[in-house]
Amino acid sequence: MPAPKALERRARELRERLNEANHRYHVLDDPQISDEDYDALLRELLDLEESHPELRTSDSPTQRVGGAPSAGFPPYVHARPMLSLANAFDEDELLAFDARVRKLGGIEADVAYTCELKIDGLAVSLRYEGGRLVAGGTRGDGSAGEEITANLRTIKSIPLELRTANRKPPRRIDVRGEAYLRKSDFAKLNARRAARELRPFENPRNTAAGGLRQRDPKLAAERALSFYAYAVGELDVDHPPASQWELLEFLRSLGFRVNEHAARVDAIRGVIGYVKEFEERRESLDYEIDGVVVKVDDLALQARLGSVGKDPRWAVAFKFRAREARTKLLAIEVNVGRTGTLNPYAVLEPVRLGGVTVTNATLHNEEDIRRKDIRAGDVVIVRRAGDVIPQVVGPVLELREGDPPPYELPVRCPVCGADVDRPEGEVMARCTNATCPAQLVERVRHFASRGAMDIEGVGDQLARVLVEHQLVHDAGDLYHLDVTALRALPRMAEKSGSNVLAAIEASKGRGLARVLFGLGIRMVGGQNAALLAAEFGTIDAVAAATEDELTAVEGIGPEIARSVVLFFAQEPNRAMVARLKAAGVNCTAPKRERAPAGALAGKTFVLTGTLPSLTRDEAASLIAAAGGKVSGSVSKKTDYVVAGSEAGAKLAKAESLAVPVLDEAGLRELLASAG
Ligand code: IVH
Repeated sequence: MPAPKALERRARELRERLNEANHRYHVLDDPQISDEDYDALLRELLDLEESHPELRTSDSPTQRVGGAPSAGFPPYVHARPMLSLANAFDEDELLAFDARVRKLGGIEADVAYTCELKIDGLAVSLRYEGGRLVAGGTRGDGSAGEEITANLRTIKSIPLELRTANRKPPRRIDVRGEAYLRKSDFAKLNARRAARELRPFENPRNTAAGGLRQRDPKLAAERALSFYAYAVGELDVDHPPASQWELLEFLRSLGFRVNEHAARVDAIRGVIGYVKEFEERRESLDYEIDGVVVKVDDLALQARLGSVGKDPRWAVAFKFRAREARTKLLAIEVNVGRTGTLNPYAVLEPVRLGGVTVTNATLHNEEDIRRKDIRAGDVVIVRRAGDVIPQVVGPVLELREGDPPPYELPVRCPVCGADVDRPEGEVMARCTNATCPAQLVERVRHFASRGAMDIEGVGDQLARVLVEHQLVHDAGDLYHLDVTALRALPRMAEKSGSNVLAAIEASKGRGLARVLFGLGIRMVGGQNAALLAAEFGTIDAVAAATEDELTAVEGIGPEIARSVVLFFAQEPNRAMVARLKAAGVNCTAPKRERAPAGALAGKTFVLTGTLPSLTRDEAASLIAAAGGKVSGSVSKKTDYVVAGSEAGAKLAKAESLAVPVLDEAGLRELLASAG
């Protein structure tokens, strides 16, 4: 039955798309579609050709694998073709593969297989004569690739001379394997590039491919590629191995790296177990793998089974579930994190990925979206690695329709409508409203923390409960709680309710520096809060100060001044301050703060290491509020070094200069005596 016109058209379309994808992948090293998409298209074409053989053409991508060698490098002809592999995508397809092996091999019993990780790099072939590496090339179309000997020689795991101990070296051997880049080496390479302000490489595979095709072998060497051997082509030796497993051992003995996870199993059940294990473990490996290569172990059986076209009947590649997929980016939305950062995320047309349906993915920040040129309406590539949240890798530019506008982050907080601030040089934009519901739990926790208002009992947990039960809409609400309301909360006995109220009451007298720190104004840590308190004396004076007046204070720079002005320009922030004052919270600086004269006046402290219960900022706030100064480095002028665990050079320096060293308890004692 001749194929209907529609099928003919579809077959042509598939051929064109696959050929184009092949060219981009194998010749240009610049793939535009994922392996999974490619496999799906190829499979569709194979199925079409299977049921309508008249659709099969001699230039169909199903009739050859790979692409033509690109101009530039001399051709490298393979003495024996480098084969490709058919794929299996699930357990049933592995069982079908095994059934076919046994049928064609006329075998009733179990067949033994080797399982090898399918490393995602580039297949290369290395020719050794008399034990010496004489040439090497890429796979190309399987019959001929490109001769890249000089670049291959830069790969340290490729022996330039075979190790043969006192045996005679093979007269001739072609060793095949995968040239690849380790994830850790990829990260190092990109760190070095970042230091030189170069654009980072996208992924290890393309970086390895690019490395092998460098004109200058020095540039290839910089990429620090690795090599795993897994097969031979031509082999002229006196006692050839009889199985794939022996072959791997033989390659090892010649000085090659053979992947240590390769395993020999007695039957297809063992293959299924292996595949499951490594699908789980893939993220923990230092190289990317996209599946498992399964080979009939017995080489005599392999020879009997032979090949169909370029696919051997004795091997199959089990492909792991996709980690990348394409889908439409419906919209870019923004959520507000608990510290006020605006986090853009992608709303996606639902797509299956790694066994789950994905509808959202992170987009990091505005700059990243613009750098990758991601726009609403684009078809995008989404990636999921391990358990982490899916990410948008980038748009598929040739599928963009029209000219959608580049992304712009909203200028108002999507949760509360307040101004958004993104200081120069910072990647994250933030909501400026201290009462923004998205940030409330974190804001209340910070306000009550030790270096701020030090309200015992109001930690992360209670802050969350208070906000969830809508008893607290801003930090000022803490001072309007009553026992009845608290008692109604889960796990809040009357006793602990009144303890919390007493702690809140006691916090009213902490003074301006601690209030300012507690407000969580960006860039106003403990020390800056103390400087502002000492200078201005009341919260109203701080709120009314202009940027110029603020920068006139020693230690307050323009960015801090800008942040303070922006904070008090927000109406909800001013209302919250008014409520604090109305509740009787002391928003003025005690005398000691204004004109430091206490025991700590003029004393310089250096903080180092991790204190048991105070953060560095909290300790600085307490010291500053008591009139002391915190400095970054130890000198003869330092009065005290406060050292926690893992204190390093600063502690050593203090000891060598005989500067007194305090632990947290010592600091508290000193503060109490200064109070
Ligand atoms: S054997 C029949 N073994 O997978 C023998 N290939 O399509 C064909 N690969 O281009 C190759 N790890 O780049 C073989 N342990 C392994 C492999 C492996 C990765 C790649 C290789 C080849 C592709 C097969």
